[in-house]
Amino acid sequence: MTKVLVATDKPFAAIAVKGIREVVEGAGYELALLEKYTDKAQLLDAVKDANAVIIRSDIIDAPVLDAAKELKIVVRAGAGYDNVDLAAATAHNVCVMNTPGQNSNAVAELVFGMLVYAVRNFYNGTSGTELMGKKLGILAYGNVGRNVARIAKGFGMDVYAYDAFCPAEVIEKDGVKAVASTADLFKACQIVSLHIPATAETKGSINFELMNSMPKGAIVVNTARKEVIDEAGLAKMLEERPDFKYITDIKPAIDADLAAKYPDRYFGTPKKMGAQTAEANINAGIAAAKQIVDFLQNGNEKFRVNK
Ligand code: 3PG
Repeated sequence: MTKVLVATDKPFAAIAVKGIREVVEGAGYELALLEKYTDKAQLLDAVKDANAVIIRSDIIDAPVLDAAKELKIVVRAGAGYDNVDLAAATAHNVCVMNTPGQNSNAVAELVFGMLVYAVRNFYNGTSGTELMGKKLGILAYGNVGRNVARIAKGFGMDVYAYDAFCPAEVIEKDGVKAVASTADLFKACQIVSLHIPATAETKGSINFELMNSMPKGAIVVNTARKEVIDEAGLAKMLEERPDFKYITDIKPAIDADLAAKYPDRYFGTPKKMGAQTAEANINAGIAAAKQIVDFLQNGNEKFRVNK
């Protein structure tokens, strides 16, 4: 029997797993679950007889693909697929997909949860500021960036965006001001929200020079990937600019140091939780299950990312 494995170190809400099960079993397949695993050996063992795998930020590398002798497809229930070795998957003749847009509202809402916390001085009771009227820069205008823009307008913010791959006309159609570069975005905006993927080009790209060009009272909010931050630059920025705050959903390696030194200007969520809502789990998990069924039954490769 065709076996679909859900391998999630960070489990989906139970209601999402129920929905995934309905889709998988409805297609006549078997569902296996590997949740909260603590050891890679457990994943290597679980993939042995799986024909399809649904993951989140779980690492699918060459050893996993070597162990998964029956594997045809991996679906990353979510947007970023930097956790999957695409070249190795292609070499193993495994199709890799993501589920773009399915968890983006959840991530965008967390941006504002964190921003209100930051501008109200981490709820320490002192007078903070409001978001209304502030310039918000959105770096990368994809599914999450667009949701951030929509919510920011509700807060009455002045919204700017830059995306190397999205034409200015598309951005401006949403009533968002398009700027010509990442550097222009940081220079113009007191608050910058990062939505770039972790790629060879973006890794370490958010550096001291960029952050230091931001106006007074600068805040950078990162719900994207920790790898895009130049950590030495971040440490220098927090040290040299007492007006600067950094809030993140993905802790840098120097988290403990920054948290101890700057308790009122640095904040990291305990565990990446941007997409941790029942709705996002349901949307992304069920989309992943449906994409697997459609791929196995009809060969549909619409969301394939390893072309
Ligand atoms: C994504 O790329 O979709 C988000 O970063 C969410 O990741 P998660 O599924 O690990 O929470």
